Amino acid sequence: MKADADPNLIVYFGGQYVPMREARVGILTHALHYGTGVFEGIRAYWNETARELYVLRPTEHFERWKRNCGILRIDVPLTPEELCAITAELAWRNAFHTDLYVRPLAYKSAERIGVAIDDEDSFFIAAVPYGEYLHSENGLHAGVSSWRRIEDNAIPPRAKICGAYANSALAGDEARRSGFDEAILLNEAGHVTEGATCNLFMVRKGRLITPAVTDNILEGITRDSIMELATRELDLEIVERPIARSELYVCDELFLTGTAVGVAPVVRVDHRPVANGAIGETTRRLRRLYFDAAHGNLQAYRKWLLPVYAGGRLAEQNAARVDARVGETSLA
Ligand SMILES: Cc1ncc(COP(=O)(O)O)c(C=O)c1O
Repeated sequence: MKADADPNLIVYFGGQYVPMREARVGILTHALHYGTGVFEGIRAYWNETARELYVLRPTEHFERWKRNCGILRIDVPLTPEELCAITAELAWRNAFHTDLYVRPLAYKSAERIGVAIDDEDSFFIAAVPYGEYLHSENGLHAGVSSWRRIEDNAIPPRAKICGAYANSALAGDEARRSGFDEAILLNEAGHVTEGATCNLFMVRKGRLITPAVTDNILEGITRDSIMELATRELDLEIVERPIARSELYVCDELFLTGTAVGVAPVVRVDHRPVANGAIGETTRRLRRLYFDAAHGNLQAYRKWLLPVYAGGRLAEQNAARVDARVGETSLA
């Protein structure tokens, strides 16, 4: 998060809705020392015309979260539907009428020294007002990082494991200190994987090309949305295959995708213009489609959205159900 969040915001912590200033963890918490947490990042977009706040693909995010928590043997004792209800409830209780970033985090919560994983798990969900992550309107300048992407057999990058983000932090920090907007990481074989916090697509000869989910990438939900939009709306062929570094220098278009960045065009890589250095037509169209879908302007993609206020009554009913279950499962 770029700005400090308001400590009075209501968050979901320890099975209750509490002000953020009361949501505290102890200094010996396992995840704080060893990175043994799994987080998510979800966006909600405010549509001023509709006076509605749309949470974007929350079910898919919570399904991914729960599945990936399994890698660290963390149990989140609620269903994706219940977690969606809590998210809507959070937005509603904070009376948000602005774009949001929602941050669920599940973690190993025993307070003791020792790296071995035990069965004490906790989770919280926080939602904060959040504008643009990268100012990508005019295109970004990306730099290939000197850091390598972590390997699946070291820390699986397909899950948003807290400790793994030291890799993204090192690459992102290096990129920005070197004057780039974002880092592009190669794997140990020298192939392109993704950005520090986003997936990568390039356009070559009319085809959309992106690394496969076996290439040490996060299985991005925005990546999935873009693939659906590209296939259905633009009739584009999508190829998932390894990308060589130098293909970045000769491709027709390049862009990054992610919950935080949305669809961010890259117009320069390593001080070289991508094609003629202007934002490409395919990127421009996909960026527009994604924006419209995320803001509830495309009927066909309403299936991706959870409306917070029209669904407000639903959220209230669900909250009662969740409160009852939380009592049963005694979330610590
Ligand atoms: C390393 C990394 N890759 C890709 C993404 C994009 O994933 P998603 O579209 O699900 O946000 C993210 C952000 O969540 C990320 O941290």
